[in-house]
Amino acid sequence: LTPLLIAAVVGYFLGALPFGWLVARSRGINIFEHGSKNPGATNVRRVCGKGPGNLVFFLDAVKGAVATGWPIWAVALFPTEGSKLARVDIGSFNLVPPFAEFHLAVAGLVAALIGHSFSCFTKFKGGKGVATASGGFLVLMPLPLLCGLGVWLATFYTTRYVSLASMLAAIALPIAAFFFKQPNLLIGLGGVIALFVVLRHRANITRLLNGTESKFVKKPAEQT
Ligand code: G3P
Repeated sequence: LTPLLIAAVVGYFLGALPFGWLVARSRGINIFEHGSKNPGATNVRRVCGKGPGNLVFFLDAVKGAVATGWPIWAVALFPTEGSKLARVDIGSFNLVPPFAEFHLAVAGLVAALIGHSFSCFTKFKGGKGVATASGGFLVLMPLPLLCGLGVWLATFYTTRYVSLASMLAAIALPIAAFFFKQPNLLIGLGGVIALFVVLRHRANITRLLNGTESKFVKKPAEQT
């Protein structure tokens, strides 16, 4: 097995862990049959409440971070002569040391997103990848992720549409990565993932256009 294949396989199975489905199921709910029918943090929050929703966001982000980060962390802990030689200066604003194994982290994140959205544990159904990608980008490029978060918050608090906020944040991320002088591999990765996130939101886009997308509402117990 080549390292690239190992990173991809590990990434897929980590990403495929169906936390949204599991958390909802622990409360007796099949998330694929309620709300938007999406097994993501937003829909778990919509159907099960704030705590379960936040838990799903956290767990989905952690699996994205681990799927992305473990090749980097492994090399940082056990550096080989080759990995030391491969360190290059890839510009400012990089908090993550640029190892040769960077491409393994990228493969891990892409595979985790595929696993999350087409999980072998839930009949190849799954979520839209926003939390999982956030975890991965926290490892790979935290400052552009922070810009994406800013776009998410600004959109969410002006429109109350989580889906629109998620898509605009995903699109903002590769643009921010460009301005933060990130490596082309990471800018490209941000672009591909933005496209993936937008495509996963096709049903939301249709609802946004015909005015039927559900706005974020606090549950009665949260409104006080
Ligand atoms: O990340 C998913 C979110 O953007 C939309 O979720 O359940 O409203 O389709 P949902």
